[in-house]
Amino acid sequence: MNMRDKEFTPAGGGAGRTAAAGEQRPAPAAPDSAVGVSRPHESARAQVAGSATYVDDIPEVKGTLHAAPILSNVAHGRLLGVNAAAALALPGVRGVVLAGDIPGDPMLATFVHDEPVFARDTVQHIGQVVGLVVAETVMQARRAARQVQLKIDPLPPVMTPREAHAKQSYVLPPVTVRRGEPEAALAQSPHRLSGQLQVGGQEHFYLEGQVAYALPLEQGQWWVYSSTQHPGEIQHWVAHALGIENNAVTVECRRMGGGFGGKETQAGHLAVWATLAARKFRCPVKLRLDRDDDFMVTGKRHPFAYDYTVGFDGSGLVTALKLTMLADCGFSADLSGPVADRAIFHADNAYFLSDVEIASYRCKTNTQSHTAFRGFGGPQGVIVIEAILGDIARTLGLDPFDVRLRNLYGIEERNVTHYQMKVEDNILQPLLSTLAQSSHYRQRREAIAAWNAGSPVIKRGIALTPVKFGISFTATLFNQAGALVHVYLDGSVQVNHGGTEMGQGLNTKVAQIVADELGVPFERVRSTAADTSKVPNASATAASSGTDLNGRAAQYAARHVRDNLAAFVAGLDGCGAGAVRFAGGRVTSPKATRSFDEVVQAAYANRIQLWSDGFYRTPKIHYDKLTLTGRPFYYFAYGAACSEVAIDTLTGESRVLKVDILHDVGTSINPALDIGQIEGGFIQGMGWLTTEQLVWNDKGYLATHAPSTYKIPATGDVPEHFKVDLWPEPNREDNVGGSKAVGEPPFMLAVSVREAIRDAVAAAQGGSQPVRMDAPATAENVLKALKA
Ligand code: MTE
Ligand code: MOS
Repeated sequence: MNMRDKEFTPAGGGAGRTAAAGEQRPAPAAPDSAVGVSRPHESARAQVAGSATYVDDIPEVKGTLHAAPILSNVAHGRLLGVNAAAALALPGVRGVVLAGDIPGDPMLATFVHDEPVFARDTVQHIGQVVGLVVAETVMQARRAARQVQLKIDPLPPVMTPREAHAKQSYVLPPVTVRRGEPEAALAQSPHRLSGQLQVGGQEHFYLEGQVAYALPLEQGQWWVYSSTQHPGEIQHWVAHALGIENNAVTVECRRMGGGFGGKETQAGHLAVWATLAARKFRCPVKLRLDRDDDFMVTGKRHPFAYDYTVGFDGSGLVTALKLTMLADCGFSADLSGPVADRAIFHADNAYFLSDVEIASYRCKTNTQSHTAFRGFGGPQGVIVIEAILGDIARTLGLDPFDVRLRNLYGIEERNVTHYQMKVEDNILQPLLSTLAQSSHYRQRREAIAAWNAGSPVIKRGIALTPVKFGISFTATLFNQAGALVHVYLDGSVQVNHGGTEMGQGLNTKVAQIVADELGVPFERVRSTAADTSKVPNASATAASSGTDLNGRAAQYAARHVRDNLAAFVAGLDGCGAGAVRFAGGRVTSPKATRSFDEVVQAAYANRIQLWSDGFYRTPKIHYDKLTLTGRPFYYFAYGAACSEVAIDTLTGESRVLKVDILHDVGTSINPALDIGQIEGGFIQGMGWLTTEQLVWNDKGYLATHAPSTYKIPATGDVPEHFKVDLWPEPNREDNVGGSKAVGEPPFMLAVSVREAIRDAVAAAQGGSQPVRMDAPATAENVLKALKA
C-alpha cells in the first residue's frame, strides 16, 4: 500500500446504482446549489412524451421533396455510366442529382480532401453514394433509387488491413512513436512473447439515423437542420460544396438521438447531399437514411489488426514492446489520422512502457470510411496492451491483476508516457486497490477456481482492468469554446453554446453551471438549440470535452452578467462588488437582500447589460504533430472495472454475470447523468467486444447491415449485478466545477469483460499459455480460442 491509500475514503459506501446518485458526492452540495445534484436530463420528460423534436419531426415546409441515395453495388471499380431512365419513369420522381450538379468543389471539405461528394470516375466501396433520386415522398425516392442502373467495370478490392498493408495501400502516411531501445531491451528480456490480434469495428447504431433537412432562404442563403455533433463543420462543408461563403449558411441542431462519434463528420455528407438536391430543384429537401442504408453508407469504428513482441521479467514487468497497429480506415481518411494517433496514445493504457516502439499504419480498404466512435481509437490502444498483460500473466502462472498492478504508472522514473507527457494526476494505485477490495476480487478469484474445478462445461472467469484516458482534442486548436447567456426581464435565463446534445446531458450540465453561477434555481435556465448563427466556429462535441469546454465558456458568460449585476448592486448599497452574493434566487449585499428578478429589472432600468458571451480555451496543452510528443491532454480520467463472466465451452456462448465499476469523474456536476454515461459507455463497450460483429463478404458487401444480423446489447444483456461508484476526489487540474469528462472513458472499462472471457477460456484449457482470441468474443471466436 502506498501513502495515498491512507488518505483516501472509499467511494459511495457501496451505494451502487440503485441508491440516490447524489449520495455519491464526497461533500453534499449546498441545499440550493444547482451543481452536484442529480437533476433529470433537461429533455427527459419531453423525450418520453414524444414531444422532443428531432430533425425528422420538424413540420415540413410546403413543397418539401425527399431524397434517397443511389448506392454503388461494387466494392471497387471504374464508374462508366449512370442510367436513371427506369427511376425517372416512376411516379413522384422529380429527378436525380449527380456529381455534375455540384456548383462548388466536387470533393468534400474534409481535412484530407480525399473524398468525393458523389462517386465520379471510380467507386470505392459497396454503399458509396453515386447520387440521389429526388421525389415527392420518401418511399417514392427510395424505390426509384433502387432502379438506377450503374455501369461499373470491376477492379480487385482490398478488404482487410493486412491485405492493404501488404500492398502498401494507405490513406495517410505511417507514424511511429519510439522511446528507449526496444530492440536491445527485447534481446535482454528474460521472457518474450509474440502475437497477433484482430479487433472488429462497430456500428454506431444511434437510435435516430443520419438525417438532414435543407431549406433555401432568400438571397442565396440556406438553413440546414442536421443531426450533427458539429454544426460548424456542416456549415463549412455545405458552403464549400455550393461554392458560397459560410455566412450564407446556418445550421441548427436541437438534439440528436445519439451520435457516438458517428455524427462528428459523417452527418456532413447528408447535409451536403440534401442541400445540393434542394439547390437543383429549388425546394426544401429532406434526406433521411433508413437503417440498412445507414449501415451501408456510413463509416464505423475502425477495425484494427496488431502484431507485437513483448519482453518481460519473471514478475511480469514489461521490459520492452514492439507493436504494429494496422488501422482499417476504409476508402478515405475522414478522421483516421487522429483516431490512429489516439490509439498510439492509449497503447500504454495505465502502464509505464520503458522501451517501446509503436508503428501505426493507416490502411486503405474498399469499405465505408471509418470514423470517430466513442473512445476515438483509445479503445483500440487499450485492448492490445490488456491482451498482452493477460497473456504475460498466464505464461508466468501469475494472477493477471498482479501483473497489471506491477506495470502501473508510478512515481519518479515511472511517470512519463511514451509520448513524453508526465502523468501528474495518477490515482491508479489507490483506485485499483479500492475496487479490488470493494468487489472482493481476491476472494472471488479463489471461489471461481473452486467452482470451475467442479464444472466441466460452464467455466467462469474474472478480470479487473483499469483505464487512463487522456482528455482534450489532440489537435490543440479545437480546445476552445464559446457561449452566450441571456438574462431576460423576468429574471429567466437562456444559455446557448457551441456544443450539441446527443443524449449525454450536456445541456443539462451547462444549465446547472449557469444557474449556479447566477445563484438562481436550475428551473430558471433553458438551453437552446446549437446554432451556427449564435456561437460561431464551434468545435465538434467530441473527445468527451463538451462540458469542460462549453460549460466553462457558459460559466464565464454568466459570470460577466453576474459581475454587471454585482457592480450595480454595489453602487446602490455603497459596498464592494465582491461583497454581493448570488444564491437561491436572491442577491445579498451587506445592506439588503433582494430577489434576483428584482435586481434584473432595476439593472435594466439603469441600462446595465444583461447578456454576455464567454470564451474558454484549455490551458497547458501542446504537442508536436510530427513526433506525437508533448502534452496532448489537459488531464487524465481514470477508472477500473471488475467483470465476472461465464462461458459455455460446448457452444462458445458467454454471459456477463457481475460488474463492479469505480470511476473518476472528479467532482460530479450531475451524478445521475455521470453514472448514466458510465453505465451506457460500459454496455456499449461490452457490445463491441462480445456480440457486435461486422462481416464483409468476399465481394466486399457488408452482410450484417440490420438489427437482424447485427446484435447490440439489449436490456437482458445488462449484468444482474451492475454497481457503479464514483471516485470521491475533484479534478486536480482547474476544470469546471472540479469535474472530469465522462463521455468516453468508461467505454474502455468493458475490456474487463473480454479479459474475463479469456480468463474463462484459460480455465477451460487448464494450461499456462496465452489465450489467442480475436474481438469480438462471439460464440464462434470463443470456440476457436478454446480449440487453439
Ligand atoms: N451519450 C449518449 N447518450 N449519446 C451519445 O451519442 N456520445 C459519446 C458520449 N456519450 C454519446 C454519449 C461520445 S462519442 C462523446 S465524445 C461524448 O458523449 C460527447 O459528449 P460530451 O463531450 O458532452 O461528453
Ligand atoms: Mo466522440 S468519438 O469523440 O464523438
